[in-house]
Amino acid sequence: MPDKSQHFRRYILDSMPLAIVTMDFNFKITSFNRKAEEMTGFPASTAVGRLCSEVLRSNKCKNECPLKTVREYQESATGLEAELTNHQGEKVPVRIGTTAIEDADGNFIGYLEIIEDISRFKEMEREKENFISMVAHDMKSPMVIIGGFTKRLQKEPTCKGNNKIRKYLQAMDDAEHKLESLIHEFLEHSRLDSNHLNLKRDDIDLADILKQIIESHHQRVKAQGIDLQCDCQVQTPINADAEYLSRALTNLLDNALKYSPRKGQIIINAWETDREIVILFQDQGKGIDSEDLPYIFDAFYRGKSKNEKSGHGLGLASVKSIVRQHGGRVTAESTPGKGSVFTVRLPR
Ligand SMILES: Nc1ncnc2c1ncn2[C@@H]1O[C@H](COP(=O)(O)OP(=O)(O)OP(=O)(O)O)[C@@H](O)[C@H]1O
Ligand SMILES: [Mg+2]
Repeated sequence: MPDKSQHFRRYILDSMPLAIVTMDFNFKITSFNRKAEEMTGFPASTAVGRLCSEVLRSNKCKNECPLKTVREYQESATGLEAELTNHQGEKVPVRIGTTAIEDADGNFIGYLEIIEDISRFKEMEREKENFISMVAHDMKSPMVIIGGFTKRLQKEPTCKGNNKIRKYLQAMDDAEHKLESLIHEFLEHSRLDSNHLNLKRDDIDLADILKQIIESHHQRVKAQGIDLQCDCQVQTPINADAEYLSRALTNLLDNALKYSPRKGQIIINAWETDREIVILFQDQGKGIDSEDLPYIFDAFYRGKSKNEKSGHGLGLASVKSIVRQHGGRVTAESTPGKGSVFTVRLPR
């Protein structure tokens, strides 16, 4: 006979505006609250005892299962955005938090998943993105006109001969280039961040990609006197979109160069484990302040050094989006004054 406190706990769980699901060691559901029933369309009596992936049916189950992350890395996974397919076949956008359940003695006894329905939030986010993209897009045509006329004026003999006018026109031309590049970067970022990249996956050779990226940065590396070392020990082909992956790795090398002192050293290492491919970019630059570190992957976020170097704060947001859409993750560590390490992990 359940006592009063057990009933009370049950009422709390069932009143939660979040789906709460517990699983055993084999990912079989052991409890399922009322919100979980509403969200998935499965009654608890059907869900309990079944595999979590059969009931929650998320797009992350195959390659990015948060339970496996908890099992393999022994750390809680929070804020994972996913899409569930409910019993009626409808898609429900959700945010998932997963952790291990431990008993009073710290023994691992199962998993807990907390799932939040973020349909409303996603809808608002979509509206906002559509609006901003539309504005950015519509700014492009007037920018082209301003740029075209500025160039024409720069060629006019009366303007060419007047120092003041020449200076003003040059300032207008520079500003127009900056704005154009910001619009271009922003539209590109909106596309990358939409989580619906049309990835053209192929079996690609990582060593080849790294070689091409390094070759294309040869002049800059030489001009900065950088000692660039690359050691790629990955033999297994990676199933990825070569163009997007190359763009993500280019952004990391671009940052390492941008934030490195003259004659610094940059090391790129890549290796594989039985589960993943690890690619590491290490520099001896000025590093990242601990106050900045949690935000550097956010769009438009620029660290304390923003006034010293040009940029829009979009490079790392693109890296994160591309890596995530390949089922991987990217992390950063840094010791201010000593350098930074960016690590990309892709599933094999
Ligand atoms: N290797 C690095 N060393 C030191 N700081 C870094 C490094 N990489 C990134 N950062 C910090 O993180 C911030 C965000 O990087 P991100 O690449 O997104 O933007 P950005 O380089 O400023 O501009 P963009 O890439 O759009 O040209 C940077 O402004 C910088 O403060
Ligand atoms: Mg950058």
